[in-house]
This record gives sequence, structure tokens and C-alpha cells, in this order.
Amino acid sequence: MNKTIIITGGAGFIGSHVVRLFVDKYPDCRIINVDKLTYAGNLANLKDVEDRPNYRFVKADICDFEAMRTLMEAERVDGIIHLAAESHVDRSIRDPFTFARTNVLGTLSLLQAAKEYWESLPEGYSGKRFYHISTDEVYGALELTHPEGIEPPFTTKASSGKHHLAYGDTFFYETTRYNPHSPYSASKASSDHFVRAFHDTYGMPVIVTNCSNNYGPYQFPEKLIPLFINNIRHRKPLPVYGKGENVRDWLYVEDHARAIDLIFHKGKDAETYNIGGFNEWKNIDIVKVLVRTADRLLGRSEDEDMGLITYVTDRKGHDMRYAIDSTKLQRELGWEPSLQFEEGIEKTVRWYLDNQEWMDMVTSGEYMKYYDGMYGKR
Ligand code: NAD
Ligand code: DAU
Repeated sequence: MNKTIIITGGAGFIGSHVVRLFVDKYPDCRIINVDKLTYAGNLANLKDVEDRPNYRFVKADICDFEAMRTLMEAERVDGIIHLAAESHVDRSIRDPFTFARTNVLGTLSLLQAAKEYWESLPEGYSGKRFYHISTDEVYGALELTHPEGIEPPFTTKASSGKHHLAYGDTFFYETTRYNPHSPYSASKASSDHFVRAFHDTYGMPVIVTNCSNNYGPYQFPEKLIPLFINNIRHRKPLPVYGKGENVRDWLYVEDHARAIDLIFHKGKDAETYNIGGFNEWKNIDIVKVLVRTADRLLGRSEDEDMGLITYVTDRKGHDMRYAIDSTKLQRELGWEPSLQFEEGIEKTVRWYLDNQEWMDMVTSGEYMKYYDGMYGKR
């Protein structure tokens, strides 16, 4: 076996796509999925790779420093791709402590364990890498703007020179000052600072990436897209926060996983890369696309379920607009999103409708037992 890589949070949404990609693409590397299996962790997301010889699952809490330190030494870990986190903004508003614990202290515990282990080796940090997955939300919120009185979205030019549709004329760059607003984004910002501090203080080879909203298969149905697809199917209300005017920049999850692979292998130490789709959408427009697509795939008449749209009280401190400029990643490493949004959404809606069993397991809580059967108690 070549290298040993820990992927934390591999039983979650993005993590499961990263684990699958690495297990398939690098049969000579040992891939260790370290996950606590919180409500968001679901080993059924990895059913297709669980028997591979280069894959191992370890149930552990990243906040458990001793367990992390022991694991790194026992497995002789060369690289860490850190995705484990509490990830849902609404939960962070209700329970910020859990976010500080996992996202801040958990990241610190992993960093310190990696530092102690790597510094104990004769080669030190040579050939090692700590890759931290962060979010665009740390940059704060952008405004919806109307340059020269034009109604957004309007065509604009990224710093790469490419044209795309946008709801404002400002973007998040790698150099944008951190300005988090929610307890979730504050905890992610704090963890990003710890990662960079470990480079600046101890010389640890680290990389941080900040990505926009992901969508695709295996996302926990508390997030907008899977929640709404499931509600349309069951003809339940679609709770749109506020006026539905907030804008997010959407990226298909497999494109994010490809970017992570590229950056883990080719990115430069101590660098930050933004990852995004140049794909801004107002929430209400996404919801309409979801209704149209789901109704068509379910054989219902056009727009039959538009009446399910229900405007509800806004999320507290709801950020208006996120928009990533990922030109640096494009220019330096040649990454680009592979899917057009229309294609990605069609694939996504189809996947959730075709995988009703997965959705039912998650919404009923049955998925928790998947682990019980395989490895003992959760
Ligand atoms: P998710 O909530 O689907 O999965 C998180 C995973 O982490 C789960 O499997 C959970 O069991 C595990 N976990 C939580 N606490 C843990 C702990 N203490 N110890 C070990 N494992 C623990 O999250 P996601 O949407 O896949 O996001 C993954 C990462 O990507 C997060 O760091 C998130 O901040 C970041 N991110 C997400 C998005 C997005 O749109 N979903 C966008 C940008 C960045
Ligand atoms: O930008 C990256 C972030 O994207 C990640 O860091 C987070 O982990 C991820 O959860 C996501 O955060 P958002 O808050 O943008 O995602 P969510 O799916 O919760 O909401 C998307 C938008 O839809 C947001 O403006 C709130 C709105 N919304 C959401 C839900 C769940 C609704 O209007 N109704 C809803 O029921």
C-alpha cells in the first residue's frame, strides 16, 4: 500500500462522495473513514465500497484527542482530509455549543494529534498534508445589487474573464476578509484560523478550501434541496424562508469531490482555494425548478404542486447572497465544474425519486440501525 489517508466525516453527504472517489481511484492507498455517526452520518451512503480492501471505517469522535493520536500512530497516517463537522445553519442557531465543540475543538484535536505524530517521525512533515474543508459562509453575506439600474440576474465577468449570470457585482475571493454571521459560520471561521495557525506556528503543511452550496445524492433531508424533493413527492408544504429572495451559488457534489482530489494532490501548502460553480440562484427559483422537475418525473401535470410553496418566518440572521469566485483554482490547477445546473438538478431529483428506500430509512430513523447490524451498537 502506498499512502494512508484519513477522511473525517466520510459517512456524511460530501464525505461519502470523497471516500468513494478515493477508494475507487487510488486502490494502492488506504482510505480510513473516521466518523462519529451523528444524526448526519449514514454508512448506507457507502454500501458500494464498504467491502473494498483499501477501505476501513473507524467510529470515533474527532474531539477525542487520545483516540485521534493513537489512530494516527497505529495507522501511520500520511494525509488528512477533514470534512467532519456540524453543518446545518438552522441547528447552529438552536444549539451553538455543539458547533463550537465539533467544529472548533474537534479540528484543534485533529491538528494537535497530527502535529504530535508527524513531529515524532524522522522525516517530520515531509510528504504529509492536512487538508481542511471549509465553506464560503465564513466570508459573510453579499448584497443583491443593480448596477446601472439593471434588475438582477445580469451577465457579469469573473476575474477569469468568463461570463456568467449574477445577482450582484461583488464576489468572495480568497483574499476577502472573514465576516461570519451564524454560529455555524463563526465556528467554521474559527477552525480555519486554527488550521492556518498550525502552519504559521509549527510549519504543518496545510491547505484550506472554501466551497459554495453543494447538491446531489445522499444529502441529509434537512437541507433545502432533498427536503423539498421529498416534500413534493409526499405533497407536503415547501417552507420557503422569508420572501425566497436569498441567493446561493450551487455546485454538484461530485464536482466538489473532484476539486478536493485535485487540490489534495496538486495544491500548494498554506494556500487557500475557493471552490464554486459560478451558478447563482434565488431560492424561490430553485424551488420552482424542483417542483417542475419532480412533477414531470412523477408523471404529474405541469406545475401541479406549485401550490405547496409556503412562505414562512425567515431564518434568523439569514445571509442574503453568497457568490464564490473560483478563478484561482481554475487558473492554477485547471479545475472547472463539469455539470450545467439543469443537468445536475435533473440527476439529483431523479436520484431522490429513484432511491425512496434511502430517503425512507433516513426520515424514519431506520438508517441508525444499519451500523448496529454491521459493527455492533451505534
Ligand atoms: P454532513 O452534515 O452531511 O456530514 C458531516 C459528517 O461529519 C457526518 O457523517 C457526521 O457523522 C460527522 N461528524 C459530525 N461530528 C463529528 C465528530 N465530532 N467526530 C467525527 N465525525 C463527526 O456535512 P456535509 O454537508 O457533507 O459537509 C461536510 C463538510 O463540508 C463540513 O465541514 C462542511 O462545513 C463543509 N461544507 C459543506 C457544504 C455543503 O453545501 N454541504 C459546502 C461547503 C462546505
Ligand atoms: O454555502 C455553503 C453552505 O451551504 C454549507 O457550508 C452548509 O454546510 C450547507 O448547509 C449550506 O448552507 P445553507 O444554509 O445555504 O443551506 P440550506 O440547504 O440549509 O439552505 C439553502 C437556502 O434555502 C438558504 O437560503 C435557506 C433556505 N431554506 C432552507 C431550508 C432548509 C428555506 O428557504 N427553507 C428551508 O426549509
